[in-house]
Amino acid sequence: MNTEAKKVYFHTFGCQMNVYDTGKMRAQLTADGFEETDVPEEADLVLLNTCSIREKAVDKMLSNLGEHRRRKREGQKLTIGIAGCVAQERGKELMERFPDVDLVFGPDGVPAVRDLVSAAMEGKRVLDTDFLDLDNYPFVADVDPSDHGVSAFVTIQKGCDNKCTFCIVPSTRGIEVSRPAAEIVQETRDLVARGVQEIVLIGQNVNSYGLKRADCPTFAQLLYQVAEVPGVERIRYTTSHPRDMGDDVMQAYRDLPQLTSHLHLPVQSGSNKILRRMKRYYTRERFLEVVDKLRDARPDIQLTTDIIVGFADETDEDFEETMTLLDEVGFVGSFSFKYSPRPGTPALKMKWSVPPEVASERLTRYQDRQRELSLAWHRGLEGQTVDILVEGPSRHDEGVVCGRTSTHAMINVPGDLSLVGKTLPARVTRGFTHSARGELV
Ligand code: SAH
Ligand code: SF4
Ligand code: F3S
Repeated sequence: MNTEAKKVYFHTFGCQMNVYDTGKMRAQLTADGFEETDVPEEADLVLLNTCSIREKAVDKMLSNLGEHRRRKREGQKLTIGIAGCVAQERGKELMERFPDVDLVFGPDGVPAVRDLVSAAMEGKRVLDTDFLDLDNYPFVADVDPSDHGVSAFVTIQKGCDNKCTFCIVPSTRGIEVSRPAAEIVQETRDLVARGVQEIVLIGQNVNSYGLKRADCPTFAQLLYQVAEVPGVERIRYTTSHPRDMGDDVMQAYRDLPQLTSHLHLPVQSGSNKILRRMKRYYTRERFLEVVDKLRDARPDIQLTTDIIVGFADETDEDFEETMTLLDEVGFVGSFSFKYSPRPGTPALKMKWSVPPEVASERLTRYQDRQRELSLAWHRGLEGQTVDILVEGPSRHDEGVVCGRTSTHAMINVPGDLSLVGKTLPARVTRGFTHSARGELV
């Protein structure tokens, strides 16, 4: 395709899947002669990689889209593409509502992004929201050219076979497909060769990796395979489903020093009634059992979680159970949200709803308590010497770099960019809510 160094501007909304997919689009389009720009006014092509997990995410994307459409109306020669989960969910509607949008495609369009873009830039209007054939699903091998940092994502599966009643992801990402282990190991090697030290394995439910394919290892076995790649200093993974955390993964925490002492384990609610309504298929008791086993296997492990408040008929008592679970587990961080009704999800048929102001109050209470726990955690590190992997410059202070402990605490230390990629001991001097300050020893 003859693009004569056309410029592409990406805007990514949503989760690690979308960040990763944008990387794969970047890889393919730059190989095709595109140059990436971070100035939308200079772009020939704008690609929005969108998220529909909550209505707010959709609103954010629509307002962003409005700016690009405005510049196009005002004369900028621009091809506008919408990719990702909103595109998948509302493709036809987007095409009808926005005549100046040229291209709409879902997550399964990522492997074909060159052809899709090329057709759109030739002036066709393109809508592609077909799911791909599950056999031989074409996971993209090309490495994201911007992946030369310390940490990089590697996808191990696409889609999700769960049917959590609040969640739109199964309909935007389709049926779960595991990526062949050889491809995962190869991508890991490619990334390590570029200087990456921390591999983050990603999927919507990584623990179910390989279960549907006779030719795939289990998730735990995959962890051992990735750990064998020379140069992999740290391995993290996300997202885990508490129901599927098996004893073989616990064993991996005993065996593999590369596995970091941090796990993001979304619990969603502390109430068994609400968990049942969500169809999460575990109880509070089972969740606590998983936490105990993890701490048995890896005593210093720290946990973060996702919480939804105000779901279905959540009463004050149900919510209190979420509050007590927060303390009982001692999560060091949470992504917490008010329930947002999503089109086409089973929860829409539930006859209950929590008044928005009640949900807001609960969210505030949860977040306040979480902040206290996060602060206590970081303060608890004061005076300790911890190993940090230096990731890059601090976003706020010049002459300061930030690093992560194995438990994923962010520690800012005075230093320059020559330290990036090094694992170094640091003494923590002061803990805050979201990070701590320290100095290298
Ligand atoms: N696969 C992951 C979660 C992906 S979505 C898992 O099972 O844990 C990320 C988070 O968004 C979820 O954990 C949930 O807390 C939140 N979320 C999903 N749907 C939502 C909705 N309709 N309203 C509010 N939060 C939602
Ligand atoms: Fe959504 Fe549940 Fe699948 Fe996570 S496991 S992506 S919450 S359906
Ligand atoms: Fe959003 Fe799609 Fe991820 S809905 S959270 S971008 S899977």
